[in-house]
Amino acid sequence: MSLDGHEPEHWFEPVAEHLGRAYLRYSFTKGTRQEVDFLVSALGLEQGTRVLDVGCGPGRHAHALAASGIVVHGIDISRRFVELARRDAPPGATFERLDARELPFDAEFDAAICLCQGAFGLMTADGHDETVIDGIARALRPGGRLALTAFSSYFVVKHWQDAEFDAATGVNHERTEIRDEDGTAVETSLWTGCYTPRELRLLCAAHGLVVDSISSVEPGAYGFESPTVDSAEFLLLATRCAPSADHRAPTSEP
Ligand SMILES: C[S@@+](CC[C@H](N)C(=O)[O-])C[C@H]1O[C@@H](n2cnc3c(N)ncnc32)[C@H](O)[C@@H]1O
Repeated sequence: MSLDGHEPEHWFEPVAEHLGRAYLRYSFTKGTRQEVDFLVSALGLEQGTRVLDVGCGPGRHAHALAASGIVVHGIDISRRFVELARRDAPPGATFERLDARELPFDAEFDAAICLCQGAFGLMTADGHDETVIDGIARALRPGGRLALTAFSSYFVVKHWQDAEFDAATGVNHERTEIRDEDGTAVETSLWTGCYTPRELRLLCAAHGLVVDSISSVEPGAYGFESPTVDSAEFLLLATRCAPSADHRAPTSEP
């Protein structure tokens, strides 16, 4: 499918193109205020803090953060969502069409958020989630903080009767109907990379991030509840290691 003359580089692009603003009708987007208030406190965000929003969608978190004086740069692969995010953006919020698998930033941000499968967890079984985490870690200054949500493998297997969960890769496939702003429905496939807290810890350790906490959360109800098998999402908070503790830092060993 061609999108205004562009070939999609990710399966989510045609989904976003069809949804447009109708994305913000989904109930999981309604808890932005609570999520942002929690993250401001948990990550210690202040006026002037520079935040990278990876897979920002139409910019709901970026807009709310910027309205509090935080400087946010949102990136997303969907041209449609970037265009929506730029509309009515408050001062301090900028947006760019960028593939999270090719993040060019080097220690430029005090914090990063990657929420609601914003690039991380929307890959098929191609290992690209790891590329996304690596790029996010590199974008953070040493001591910079990360908040990232990931779908729970436990929850999908235990509670999702219709799941087509691939046990070998941890990727769940579903067919669903999505509606645009006029109510026109199309059927589409969605792929979600699912995780356990242990996998998230191992990924972080491999990419220079120290895990501060992993909690079970719901959209609009972020908090510090210990991980359970009965909640759909995990919220990971982590801190970028100082270069000396970084696994990629050169050593004096021959
Ligand atoms: C479910 S939406 C979440 C959007 C937003 N973070 C939120 O919480 O509403 C996932 C977003 O990730 C974006 N995305 C997926 N893969 C991406 C990639 N490789 N690079 C950049 N953005 C990507 C999609 O275009 C989409 O906007």
